[in-house]
Amino acid sequence: MNKSLCFLIFLFAAQACKTVQDDKSTPMIRKDIHSYAEDAVIKQLILDLEADFENRVLKGSGTYQIETNGADYIVLDLRGPEIFTVLVDGEKADFKLGTEDPILGQALVIPVKPGSKTVSIFYQTRPDADALQWLSPQQTSGHQYPFLFSQGQAILTRTWIPIQDSPGIRFTYQATIRVPKELMAVMSARNVQVKNPDGIYRFTMLQPVPAYLMALAVGDLAFKATGARSGVYAEPSVLEKAAWEFGDTEAMIAAAEQLYGPYAWERYDLLVLPPSFPFGGMENPRLTFATPTVIAGDRSLVSLVAHELAHSWSGNLVTNADWNDFWINEGFTTYFERRIMEALYGREYSEMLASLALAELHRLVLEIGPQSKDSHLHLDLKGRNPDDGMNSIAYEKGYFFIRLLEEKIGRSRFDEFLKKYFSEHAFQTMNSERLLEYMKRHLPLDSLQINAEEWIYHPGIPANCPAPVSDRFDKVEQAYRQMAASQHWDTLLTSGWSSHEWVHFIAQVPDTVHPAQLKKMDQAYRFSESGNGEILDIWFEKAIRGGYSPEILERIEDFLVHIGRRKYLMPLYKAFKATGQIETARRIFNRARPNYHSVSANSVEQLLKE
Ligand code: BES
Ligand code: ZN
Repeated sequence: MNKSLCFLIFLFAAQACKTVQDDKSTPMIRKDIHSYAEDAVIKQLILDLEADFENRVLKGSGTYQIETNGADYIVLDLRGPEIFTVLVDGEKADFKLGTEDPILGQALVIPVKPGSKTVSIFYQTRPDADALQWLSPQQTSGHQYPFLFSQGQAILTRTWIPIQDSPGIRFTYQATIRVPKELMAVMSARNVQVKNPDGIYRFTMLQPVPAYLMALAVGDLAFKATGARSGVYAEPSVLEKAAWEFGDTEAMIAAAEQLYGPYAWERYDLLVLPPSFPFGGMENPRLTFATPTVIAGDRSLVSLVAHELAHSWSGNLVTNADWNDFWINEGFTTYFERRIMEALYGREYSEMLASLALAELHRLVLEIGPQSKDSHLHLDLKGRNPDDGMNSIAYEKGYFFIRLLEEKIGRSRFDEFLKKYFSEHAFQTMNSERLLEYMKRHLPLDSLQINAEEWIYHPGIPANCPAPVSDRFDKVEQAYRQMAASQHWDTLLTSGWSSHEWVHFIAQVPDTVHPAQLKKMDQAYRFSESGNGEILDIWFEKAIRGGYSPEILERIEDFLVHIGRRKYLMPLYKAFKATGQIETARRIFNRARPNYHSVSANSVEQLLKE
């Protein structure tokens, strides 16, 4: 039989196999709609890549230890990289590429024997690989050296490594990364703390991780310890500030362990990225990637560290089986984050964060509509880019669901449950269905009227949603009312406020406010000059919606051009659009775009094209 016929037959067989995925008697019990992977799986990856900053490509090879589970082909996910050669057990193999899907990319199908052990792939990434952002020296803090970082979640790792890009498939990895001598490479793995003069960095990740948690950054980096098993990597010019800001990290690790059991990843370090980093933080194992906007100078935004640290349990140990159950990563993590915050800074403080969260949840449900399926915890992302369906629902509706469980069951009993849940499912996946089953087995869900099914499979905010109580926020609301009525923007009443109180204060401003009133407030409190990204972001949004933005447009534009954090960008571009200023938005975006990572650029582009 000739080879192409043979290939057609196995592709056909592959399709046939897909239709029986539900059958639990086959090894194929994973059915991630965002991955082409089938029965044969990767167990270990050995990467060897060179970072070519001139051409903006990574070039080299991946060698994969595989387990075929009886299959005679293995399927990897791929979107972009150019494949030069594929070897199976050292012999050249005839690989095939499936048709290209704009979201999923292609299936890379490699014929193997059921007993095959290793596959090697020689490849090169494309300069516009979506996961990677190559920054010029001007786009860094030091302005002297270029920078590169990757962002894998949700399905972007396939744009820089041919891989089985599904949260349900875990593998260990080793990597050799070759970079220009003056730069340092770090990964979501064991890292060195000083530069290697030869520019060659070797990494090992001994615990199995899914592809979305593979991460790489290369730049002019230095390290400073913040504790015995924690520290921070950053460009030299931000290192000291960052180390101070993250000074509570060690205490957070201790608090987290106290709650839900031992930290499984040995060290917890943070990497501060240039401002174009599209997220607040990303929980890459052993090395959280973080936005520099978290460095507010007063530790007021370190709930982000608590959040990414919490993912070391919820997400990185117990992982959502596919992106439809993203809430299982983020909801548990948000709950855990607030428990860490409470342990360190007190209930009064964590209740402010929970109140802001409830407001965000209400705002979002209003925005997407109370019947929107995107307000289910369990999502249906079939045919969609997972990135489009992932919003604060997973975080905040997820949080309030878990908090409801805590309130109904009682804290100590619920903590015991969670501790057991994490330890029993470590290095495994979880989905809504199995979680419900597990909860019902260990908790008296039905008799407590929790309505778990409603929370998970229905839209909107269930009637039994817990309500945070914040005296500090009550005072803020009072102060706002008083000042708005008297038009006297008192600075005595507000002394000693945290940035959260300020954010809540600004949130009180109605969209119908007069621009002159915004100007008076700005003169009294200097919001437009704040060093805190959260304050700037909500203030600029109010300014745009209230017609005050023309007077401070330069500042707003500066913020949008220099910061690439999507959560900050979207409300501002949306506000321009909603107030008939889409041309201003487009003009700013054109200027800013070269500074944005693809994740942010794509979202803004989508918004402004309609
Ligand atoms: N894992 C997420 C980031 C993410 C989500 C990346 C979806 C890609 C797709 C991370 O843990 C996160 O939630 N970051 C938040 C910060 C946090 C304090 C809520 C963020 O980036 O805003
Ligand atoms: Zn998260």
